[in-house]
Amino acid sequence: MDYELDGKIAVVTGGTSGIGLEIARLYAKGRAKVAITGRDEKKMAGVAEALRDDGAEVLEIQADLANLSDMDRIIEETEKNLGPVDILINNAGRSYLGDFFATEPGLWEEILKNRIISPLYLTQKALSRMSERGHGAVVFMGAVIYKEPIPENVMAAAAGGGILSATKALAKLMAPKGIRVNAVLLGQFDTPMLRRGLKTYAKLHGVSVEDAGKLRASQNPTGRLGDPAEAAQLAVFLSSDAASYITGALVPVDGGRAWSI
Ligand SMILES: NC(=O)c1ccc[n+]([C@@H]2O[C@H](COP(=O)([O-])OP(=O)(O)OC[C@H]3O[C@@H](n4cnc5c(N)ncnc54)[C@H](OP(=O)(O)O)[C@@H]3O)[C@@H](O)[C@H]2O)c1
Repeated sequence: MDYELDGKIAVVTGGTSGIGLEIARLYAKGRAKVAITGRDEKKMAGVAEALRDDGAEVLEIQADLANLSDMDRIIEETEKNLGPVDILINNAGRSYLGDFFATEPGLWEEILKNRIISPLYLTQKALSRMSERGHGAVVFMGAVIYKEPIPENVMAAAAGGGILSATKALAKLMAPKGIRVNAVLLGQFDTPMLRRGLKTYAKLHGVSVEDAGKLRASQNPTGRLGDPAEAAQLAVFLSSDAASYITGALVPVDGGRAWSI
C-alpha cells in the first residue's frame, strides 16, 4: 500500500533491529528520509549501509535511552542533516520479563527511565518543533500487556500503562495543532528481543526454552508469533496521512491475543 511517504522525514528509535528495523525499511521503501537510533554503532552502521544500498537516505544517531542528553540530540541532528521531522516512532527498548520479588529498585528506575521518561522527553522535543509547523505524527510502540497486564512483567506493565495514558493526553493536547499521537499495542513478535527473553520465560514457567517458544506462540489465537513486518505496517500506517482522522488510538496488532472489548 502507498502511504505517500515520499520526502517525509521520520525518526525511528531502535531502528537497528526487529520491529524498528522493519519500520525503517518501510520508510526507506516509500522514499522517506529516515533517522535510526540505537546504542550499538557497529550494528547501526551495517543496517544503515543495507538501507542505503536500497537507495534510502539514512542518518545514524547513536543514542541510549539511559541518557537524556542523547534524547536532546536526536531531533536536533535529524533536523540539521535531513530536515524538519514529520514523524517520530518511539520504538527503542527491551523486555523486562522477570520475577517481581527479585526486581531491585535500580531496575525499577531503569524501567521508568527507559519506558517513560526518555521517550516522553524525546517526544516533547519533537512536538515542540512539529507544533511550530502545524503538522506531525508520533507513534508509541507499546504492548497489549500494557492494557492486559501479565504477572511475569509487573514493572513494565506499570510503566507501559503510563505511556498509554500519555498517548491519550498528548493526542488531546496536540490535536488543535494538527499533530496526531497514537500507540501500537504489540503482541508477540519473532525478534531478537523475544528470542533473548525465552530463557527467562522458560525459567519462570519451569519448561525448556523450546517449549517456552511453543507456549508463547500458543497464547495467540492465530497460534503463531507475529512477523516484525506485520507490526511495522501498522506503525507506518498510523504515522501517515492515510490515518489523518486517527489520534489517541491504542491499536493492537497481536494475532488476536488481547481479549478485552
Ligand atoms: N518483540 C515483541 O514481541 C515485543 C512485544 C511488545 C513490545 N515490544 C517492544 O517493541 C520494541 C522493539 O522490540 P523488538 O522486539 O524489535 O526488539 P529488538 O529486536 O531487540 O530491537 C530493539 C531496538 O531498540 C534498541 N535499544 C534497546 N535498548 C535500548 C536503549 N536502552 N537505548 C537505546 N536503544 C535501545 C536496540 O538497539 P541497541 O541494542 O543497539 O541499543 C534495537 O535497535 C521494544 O520497545 C519492545 O519492548 C516488542
